[in-house]
Amino acid sequence: MQTTPSNHTATGISQHQITALLARERHLYDERNPKSRSQAARAAQHLLFGVPLHWMNDWGTPFALQVATAQGAHLTDLDGHTLADFCLGDTGAMFGHSPPAVAQALAEQASRGYTTMLASEDAAVVAETLAQRFGLPMWQFAMTATDANRFVLRWIRAATQRKVLIVFNGCYHGTVEDVFVDLLDGQPVQRNSLLGQVHDLTQTTRVVEFNDLKALEAALAPGDVACVLAEPVMTNIGMVLPQAGFWKQAQALIRRFGAMLVMDETHTISSGPSGYCQAHGLTPDALVLGKPLGGGVPCAAYGFSAELAPRVVAAKHNAPPGHSGIGTTLSANLLAMAAMRVTLTQLMTEANFLHMHALAATLSTGLRACIKRHHLPWCVTQVGARTEFQFCATAPINGTQAGLAMNPDLEHVIHLYLLNRGVLITPFHNMMLVCPDTTEEDVSRLLQVFDAALSTLLHTGPDE
Ligand SMILES: Cc1ncc(COP(=O)(O)O)c(C=O)c1O
Repeated sequence: MQTTPSNHTATGISQHQITALLARERHLYDERNPKSRSQAARAAQHLLFGVPLHWMNDWGTPFALQVATAQGAHLTDLDGHTLADFCLGDTGAMFGHSPPAVAQALAEQASRGYTTMLASEDAAVVAETLAQRFGLPMWQFAMTATDANRFVLRWIRAATQRKVLIVFNGCYHGTVEDVFVDLLDGQPVQRNSLLGQVHDLTQTTRVVEFNDLKALEAALAPGDVACVLAEPVMTNIGMVLPQAGFWKQAQALIRRFGAMLVMDETHTISSGPSGYCQAHGLTPDALVLGKPLGGGVPCAAYGFSAELAPRVVAAKHNAPPGHSGIGTTLSANLLAMAAMRVTLTQLMTEANFLHMHALAATLSTGLRACIKRHHLPWCVTQVGARTEFQFCATAPINGTQAGLAMNPDLEHVIHLYLLNRGVLITPFHNMMLVCPDTTEEDVSRLLQVFDAALSTLLHTGPDE
């Protein structure tokens, strides 16, 4: 989304309150984290941007927080603070940091080989489990959800002999270039932050607003669309829920025009052991899973329906021999397979999700009450184990509305206030995830510090 500060929704907090508190919190962070500061300075000598990934600087801390250990629902930083972690590696650690069952499976596999470019028993078991659980019979693997999305797109374009992709405005599906197209004043525009892109993505990507069936129908109408790639709930521009009946009708439209529906459940797997689609009776043609699928070990999977799978196989058989552009050497390695097997069978359980959903409900209710107490025009949305507060009075229904409700300065100051008091939430928006190890006390702590953050923000003046 390309928004400018001038068109942000009113948040109920003035810019001078934000600026004044941000200065205080940055100073406090600096004082509290001398070891992180010196480690960050050392790292800056040989790490581009001072961090292993350039966007780690977008957390909004004066310098990068350095992790010492992560276990269960907690992180310890280099200066010895223990943080209640509601970021959870933004979903990679949705089943807790270093879950013992995964650690044990990795330790056992570690003496039997890591990577061989060969199949193993674990692969068959994982695919069987995925098929039973997600209702799609045929599966392949990747290292990241980004790659899984990229590969699915390639397979479906080959199978359908169609080029065009439809996405929803404000979406994110990893660094898959094809989806970096936004609606700006109703016109498709390539996201201007995308680096080094040499193709005009608007030639093959159409973008429509979420919950807009008419726009979706118009985009499908030329009959040249290979697939619609979507999250069942938008989660990356804040949260945007589908309106009642949206997906059933969207699915029918997509089928009518001979296109495929690809559901990216990388985040919405927070809905339960079988994801959002199964819980809501949706039947996508392809499904993507990533991030927490290996309990934090890098791996991803994608599945095809009984109708699509043979078309995918035919596309490969009909192509000349040689590189398909799909797959990487380390994908589906033995460690990843062992991690997925144990995560699927021992961590992605009904019992764990029951605990997570109950705590997320407590968190959502508590946040709503706190926001109401402070008379702020903000809303809270929960999708399973994920909860998000947004700086708008009513939940947004599309990416444009959700984008306008974002306010990076306000986000930064709240996040930093929480971090300085032992609570970590996801950067870039206001998402909080709970894992099986998260406790009532962790949630109470978050709510208490959040309440203090709002009180302080509302009563902070330039002279304080
Ligand atoms: C919905 C969705 N799909 C895919 C991805 C890509 O995951 P990864 O960065 O692990 O490749 C993300 C990342 O945030 C995501 O939110």
